[in-house]
Amino acid sequence: MKVSVIGAGYVGLVTASCLAELGNKVVCCDNDLKKIKQLKKGISPIYEPGLEELIRKNLKKKNLKFTSSIKEATKESEIIFIAVGTPSLEDGRADLTGIENVARQIAKNMPGYRLIIEKSTVPVNTGEWVKKTILAHIKGKIKFDVASNPEFLREGQAINDFMHPDRIVLGVDSKKAKELLLNLYKPLKTEILITDIKSAELIKHASNSFLATKISFINAVSYLCEKTGADIKEVAKGMGLDKRIGASFLEAGIGYGGSCFPKDVDAFINIAKELGYNFELLQVVKEINQQQKIFFLNKIKNALWIIKDKTIGVLGLAFKPNTDDIRNAPSLEIIRTLKKEGAKIKVYDPQAMPKAKAVLTDEIQFCKSPYQVAEGSDCLLLITEWQEFKELDFLRIKKLMKQPLIIDGRNLYEPKIMKKLGFKYIGIGRSANG
Ligand code: UDX
Repeated sequence: MKVSVIGAGYVGLVTASCLAELGNKVVCCDNDLKKIKQLKKGISPIYEPGLEELIRKNLKKKNLKFTSSIKEATKESEIIFIAVGTPSLEDGRADLTGIENVARQIAKNMPGYRLIIEKSTVPVNTGEWVKKTILAHIKGKIKFDVASNPEFLREGQAINDFMHPDRIVLGVDSKKAKELLLNLYKPLKTEILITDIKSAELIKHASNSFLATKISFINAVSYLCEKTGADIKEVAKGMGLDKRIGASFLEAGIGYGGSCFPKDVDAFINIAKELGYNFELLQVVKEINQQQKIFFLNKIKNALWIIKDKTIGVLGLAFKPNTDDIRNAPSLEIIRTLKKEGAKIKVYDPQAMPKAKAVLTDEIQFCKSPYQVAEGSDCLLLITEWQEFKELDFLRIKKLMKQPLIIDGRNLYEPKIMKKLGFKYIGIGRSANG
């Protein structure tokens, strides 16, 4: 099928590349000329495992092409996904300027029937606004449909999530839209939920807010574990065995970050407010998430006493492993606070250092390896659970450090093993074995 994807960010690029990989002819469009120039050469602007290979392969096969012209993208394909950014405004609402602009330009350039699908995360009722916008700018009597097909991909495993999703949600209000989308997703063998547009829009915000709630819940329980001597890993395991609860997203740590959860929780609180509901539960989810970083900083202070002039090594900057994304990464706030208190900071991340260098300009030492970070450090902070950090030579690390102290914000290591290796080890909610 012929498909266009407007927006070459995480969601747009993965959607475009995967749909091309499934055999469709895909046009991916973005107004960032530099980005398009790079993409035409097969260079991905983001680090996402497997993405660049997919882009190159499908460019070569001519299943994928890049353009900066919405006109061209609209003319070429009957199916058009809108995957432009919907950043947070200062009050937490989603900024839908990008969506409106794209809808207007599609309307002006539609040569015939088009199915316009919201792929970006948008507040409920956006579909209605997209319809109104297109109707206001369309030239002549051209038919069109609007649909909602939210994306649930996780950074770091986005391609796998696209190709093997738990479910596909299709919010449609016409038979034609339903058939086109069912046909497009035919190769993906999974449960497909066909619903109305508003429900589909709500499913996305409700799902992400629920997952964020799960994380804050387990983080709150981890505090109780620390105070009582229970072990959060055991508690989470015991809870997760209940199928109604499920084992995933029960990892206690320094809180969720990234481009989705913080933004979507804020947006959902605001959507609820506009509809007359005070979503206090989500306010508290946010507060607990913020508190986790403060608790973590307190652990550092309790272990080091004076922060000033101490050398603190940071392992991991990305908001989670297998990505170079540092948006809302807990690492940034932790580093900035420690720096303010006079610590010397050394950092290493396998992928996120170039992006971190652009925002952490404040005399931070970017190292070539975890061992260089450990050298002369009074304390090591594990912030992102990269596999590489799981496989460190700890005897070497211990020798390099000024004192063998590890504060593990992701419970990557086993307290008993670390203790045996001679470290003072502090995890999250794991005092029982510490
Ligand atoms: C998320 C959703 O999972 C995805 O469906 C959605 O469409 C986009 O947002 P993503 O932001 O890429 O994906 O990351 P995810 O793997 O969900 O992790 C989000 C954050 O939660 C990370 O900071 C992660 O470290 C944290 N997390 C996750 C925990 O702290 N504990 C957990 O148990 C799981």
